[in-house]
Amino acid sequence: MPSQTVPQKEATISYDGKSLVLPVIRGSEGETAVNIEKLRAQTGMVTIDPGYGNTGSCKSSVTFIDGDKGILRYRGYPIDQLAENASFLEVAWLLIHGELPTADQLRDFTTSVTRHTLLHENFSRFFEAFPKDAHPMPVCAASIAALTTFYQAPETDENRDESMVRLIAKMPTIAAYAYKHSIGQPFMYPQNKLDYASNFLRMMFGTPCEEYEVDPVLARTLDMLLILHADHEQNCSTSTVRMVGSSRANLYASVSAGISALWGPLHGGANQEVIEMLERIEAEEGSAEKFLFRAKDKNETARLMGFGHRVYKNYDPRAAILKKHCDVVLARVGVSNKLLEIAMKLEEIALKDDYFVSRKLYPNVDFYSGVIYKALGIPVNMFTVMFTMGRMPGWIAQWLEMRQDPDFRISRPRQIYTGHVQRDYKPIGERG
Ligand code: SDX
Repeated sequence: MPSQTVPQKEATISYDGKSLVLPVIRGSEGETAVNIEKLRAQTGMVTIDPGYGNTGSCKSSVTFIDGDKGILRYRGYPIDQLAENASFLEVAWLLIHGELPTADQLRDFTTSVTRHTLLHENFSRFFEAFPKDAHPMPVCAASIAALTTFYQAPETDENRDESMVRLIAKMPTIAAYAYKHSIGQPFMYPQNKLDYASNFLRMMFGTPCEEYEVDPVLARTLDMLLILHADHEQNCSTSTVRMVGSSRANLYASVSAGISALWGPLHGGANQEVIEMLERIEAEEGSAEKFLFRAKDKNETARLMGFGHRVYKNYDPRAAILKKHCDVVLARVGVSNKLLEIAMKLEEIALKDDYFVSRKLYPNVDFYSGVIYKALGIPVNMFTVMFTMGRMPGWIAQWLEMRQDPDFRISRPRQIYTGHVQRDYKPIGERG
């Protein structure tokens, strides 16, 4: 069992002639935090931390990141070991239940997920309501929220497990249906004889006109991509899932909010932005040097997408694994690696450039993932949907941990008010 936080020395805040001693807690990896739960009650003061860069929202035993050392572990297991040896459903079980599954547990879980991949027939009419050119992310956010209308029973421990399986099982079907709707092709029903990644690839690229043969190497690559995206502690979208779930909103509604947060170009939307950036460089700039010059210019809107991270001030370990797999996948599908060459040239130059080095800006998970998604034939506007599919078990695990926390309470941050002090209403004729 992971160790609980242990009380450490104390911290003293002194202000206006008074001082307050606050407990310091230490996590299992030696991180320490000042516990300010009593701050406002005892001093009337709050803290402020725009973007929460210095604020821990919770104690968690799901994922550990060391941004300085470039370490990422799910429930203590290093990400490279899981990516190379585990399956996505095995990792999903690990994140949600805290331990790697036994053979029987994995078999039963896989069977349960497989048997929940189908969507209610009404969903086909639901998709028809969306414009053909709708971005698939809001389609997925709306579809996941709509699951609440099909499964209306009030949440219990038993049906909560079923909701978790339904989300993991139906996300690939929803994603593929969003794509099929956008290209005017018939939906392909999931097939129970296929594994998770193969089922998705067939629903995406198969048609009723001919059988679609899944390439096992590409299916395994996709499975590994999903593992790399499965969780990442208290990032923007996961904090959103926790925040929404803290009001006792159900799991579907909480995850739907997380999908909308992930869509942002500074977060999960960056993988689409990276490929569009690489394609622009290939088509317009012609040179990585010229683009980087613009990316460093504050007056320019260009940013080196896929670079930089709030936590990693070293190479994102996921980017290193993805970079290694790019060549394998490109060779397998026999597509040009022009975009990969541009990406590697950008990385080579940036990692020697003081602007990036001094700000500790390194490739993050989004920098190379798009090259692989493109090689798999995934359309660019579906890249963040792939991120959503991977992140699903992480959101579920974090939401469950929040709900099962003995100190559970609704999230409600405070503020420092900077608006007008009291003033009286003026009739419209006296407003000048
Ligand atoms: C994900 O949180 C997670 O864990 C997220 C994630 C996950 O798995 O859930 O890892 C997934 O979201 C990865 C990040 C994907 N986003 C991008 O690749 C977009 C490009 N990166 C940035 O916009 C930025 O680096 C962030 C948003 C990722 C982090 O932003 P921060 O921590 O708020 O840092 P910042 O914007 O304050 O940047 C610090 C400095 C600034 O310059 P100065 O004001 O010091 O002069 O670095 C500069 C920034 O202008 N900078 C960049 C840059 N990223 C930061 N300059 C050029 N190109 C960049 N990519």
